[in-house]
Amino acid sequence: AQPLRVALAGLGTVGAGVIALIDANRDLIARRAGRPIEIVAVSARDRARDRGVDLTRFAWLDDTRALGQRDDVDVVVELIGGADGPALTLAREALGQGKHFVTANKAMIAHHGLALAAEAERLQRAFKYEAAVAGGIPVIKGLREGAAANALTRVYGILNGTCNYILSTMESEGADFAAVLAEAQRLGYAEADPGFDIDGVDAAHKLSILASLAFGSRLDFEAVAITGIRQIIAADIAQAQALGYRVRLVGIAETSPEGSSTAGLFQRVHPCLVPLHHPLAHVAGSLNAVVAEGNFVGRLLFEGRGAGAGPTASAVVADLIDIARGELGPAFAMPVAALEAQPPAPAGER
Ligand code: HSE
Repeated sequence: AQPLRVALAGLGTVGAGVIALIDANRDLIARRAGRPIEIVAVSARDRARDRGVDLTRFAWLDDTRALGQRDDVDVVVELIGGADGPALTLAREALGQGKHFVTANKAMIAHHGLALAAEAERLQRAFKYEAAVAGGIPVIKGLREGAAANALTRVYGILNGTCNYILSTMESEGADFAAVLAEAQRLGYAEADPGFDIDGVDAAHKLSILASLAFGSRLDFEAVAITGIRQIIAADIAQAQALGYRVRLVGIAETSPEGSSTAGLFQRVHPCLVPLHHPLAHVAGSLNAVVAEGNFVGRLLFEGRGAGAGPTASAVVADLIDIARGELGPAFAMPVAALEAQPPAPAGER
């Protein structure tokens, strides 16, 4: 069978992880996908850096955008990051040239996801982003496919591994905020600009994506009310602990029934006091967890590693396997035209 030919843009933690995973599980992937998945070309800022994987087998392109123009490429995988700039240019270029597109870029999806998905649908190409939310946890597929038959009323969870690592390590080891943040950066969990993590913006990007999938509503990042964890000090954590709670950064999206005085879609990210009996209180380190409540399925709990090379690469390659199988599917809860035809959910504050 014809291999699925992949171009990889961005060779940071996740990019190197994708290469390592495809190398390690090559045969298994080929059997499950029905054909081999082969990286043919790569592009990154620094060619000389040692990433622990052999890059000499791939064509190296200095111009990232050129990845989308190659005839020998079926899918472009974007792991550069950033809502705009080279990532967005590449997305438009790749789709415009008839390539399928896979990304881990939650910021770009939160800001431009609907427009890019609409373009992909128009061109009958895949636009996939399982790795953008909660790393290795298959929560995009879980909500879009697994819970598709349900009316979901609430989706919430721990969506930023860096913040969870900071909060849980401050609690378990009495460690200092700045020192734990530096460790999270060293471990490859943090964003290039860790302000996106600790100010709650990264969690808000992810929450807006989950909310759109859960409620079949238009993605609305601007409506998320956001508070991060910069102001949390050791004494807050100790005080919470004394009262039987843990401090966690939680993203929550919920709908209220139409006609009630608070009708609408509420999206917020802020530090929460989570009681010890709740599963979110036991999500430690860089783990993420997502809870969704549906009218027939009841409560779903997804938990796993939400950041880092292996888990994020696992989600990227799962998307590639879908494409190799010919499963191009809608990117959101329904085709974008249908999403956009809905009246916008009135956004609320609480
Ligand atoms: N910086 C993100 C986090 C990476 O800490 O969760 C995964 O999206």
